[in-house]
Amino acid sequence: MKILVINGPNLNMLGIREPAIYGRETYDTLLQKIVDYADEKDIEVKVLQTNYEGEMVTFIQQALGVYDGIVINPAAYTHTSVAILDAAKAVALPLVEVHISDVSKREDFRQISYIRQAAVATVSGKGTDGYLEAIDILMKELS
Ligand code: DQA
Repeated sequence: MKILVINGPNLNMLGIREPAIYGRETYDTLLQKIVDYADEKDIEVKVLQTNYEGEMVTFIQQALGVYDGIVINPAAYTHTSVAILDAAKAVALPLVEVHISDVSKREDFRQISYIRQAAVATVSGKGTDGYLEAIDILMKELS
């Protein structure tokens, strides 16, 4: 089983950015946590991050035929990007949406999620452990 994890803009700033909301764990720690979990579960995982919407579209397109499923935190593009939704629909891979913070309890502009239409599930507000839960959901979906 091969899973691609895609992180959107500013997630590389984890540990520095708004720690009251996103915690103090760094992006490198998150990476290691995902890699260790994938090892434990005996699955292959690749983790990518970009600050660019178009690059995220390309990552999704390039997953086709290579990965069995996608875990994605599109970050701010969750709330704005039809292009990312369209890419997810185009490849039609099982996809789980993740948010570190509980977006349902935040500003009005965060209440819209375009990617949700293409997601089999959403994990929100569980901190970085949410990525591990998303991997579990994908594994169930794929087995
Ligand atoms: C986020 C929530 C988004 O609203 C925000 O723009 C982010 C991170 C989260 O993981 O909680 O950058 O996706």
